[in-house]
Amino acid sequence: MKTTTLADSKADPMIVTVQQHILREQREHSPHATGSFSWLLSGITLATKMTEARVRRAGLLDVIGSAGGINVQGEVQQKLDVYADQALVHCLGVRENVAIIASEESEEAITFDGRDGKGKYVVVFDPLDGSSNIDVNVSVGTIFSILELPEGMKCTDDPTRACLQAGVRQLAAGYVVYGSSTIMVYTTGHGVHGFTLDPSFGAYVLSHENIRMPEQGCYYSSNDAYWDTFPDVYRDYLSHLRNGGMGRRYALRYIGSLVADFHRTLLRGGVFLYPPTDKNPDGKLRLLYEANPVAFIAEQAGGFATAGTQRVMEIQPTEIHQRTPLIVGGKSEMEAFQHFVQPSKAPASELPASIAG
Ligand code: AHG
Ligand code: MN
Ligand code: MN
Repeated sequence: MKTTTLADSKADPMIVTVQQHILREQREHSPHATGSFSWLLSGITLATKMTEARVRRAGLLDVIGSAGGINVQGEVQQKLDVYADQALVHCLGVRENVAIIASEESEEAITFDGRDGKGKYVVVFDPLDGSSNIDVNVSVGTIFSILELPEGMKCTDDPTRACLQAGVRQLAAGYVVYGSSTIMVYTTGHGVHGFTLDPSFGAYVLSHENIRMPEQGCYYSSNDAYWDTFPDVYRDYLSHLRNGGMGRRYALRYIGSLVADFHRTLLRGGVFLYPPTDKNPDGKLRLLYEANPVAFIAEQAGGFATAGTQRVMEIQPTEIHQRTPLIVGGKSEMEAFQHFVQPSKAPASELPASIAG
């Protein structure tokens, strides 16, 4: 009886889907893994494909514009915010290993009946990032962060407290950018990998293995409309970038969707900043489901993320929707920022090993 080897098969052996990749990573790094994590991740990928299908047809379906509600952030909910949120709640809700979820669109953490003892994962997410860009056909995205239910805790004990874990405790983090193509980027602490959705057969296929952030880029990304209300050190730092202080003149790129601005920073280098402003003195971006996942990915790719004088991933959260300033970028830009914001601190040696080199 003739057996067929992979080499004989006509299917393209170069196709590695995100599910295959996560299973390969688990075999390599967590040999006792039971495939439970990849089952969880498949819930996220499915929900993002459902959202992607709506994003691609937003002008044709009744998903443009406001859903009429106001979310816990006090922001007008867009219809796609609500749809993306419902897709994630549903797809994660049917995965019995998920104990608790927290969403930008829900005030409280969400638990699932009868899940005590089975659920081990906590998933926090921004179902649709960059909502203000939906109606004008500019890239938006989904951001997620995966934590473990604290040891000895039942999911009904204190769901909120289970979500309030520092970023260093993330098991995995990722985002999907619904852009000119749809790309998922994730890390489980073993490098950063990107997968492009192939619409011809609906799978996320490995397209960017082991992404490394360039040590120095040529873009800075911040909403300069708030320049007058940035703290002085931020203005001094941005002037340093603008005036050739880094040995090159930086250009400004700002899309207004964190996922898209960060994805460019990850691939091209440079720095993204959302400093404190008079409107948002603690920063605008949310720690749990925007800053922490982005920070995990940045550091895994050789960059660094700070809230100003503190490493983002070391902030101990006190509220699910708490905000933080976010400065995230490549080695050179972040070392330079460190000197502006904490001139007294020793130079690079104080930065985490991932960036101090
Ligand atoms: P969201 O749409 O999830 O509320 O996030 C929007 C965020 C983030 O994506 C972006 O970087 C920032 O808001 C832009 O804020 P400004 O419009 O104040 O620049
Ligand atoms: Mn967002
Ligand atoms: Mn959002």
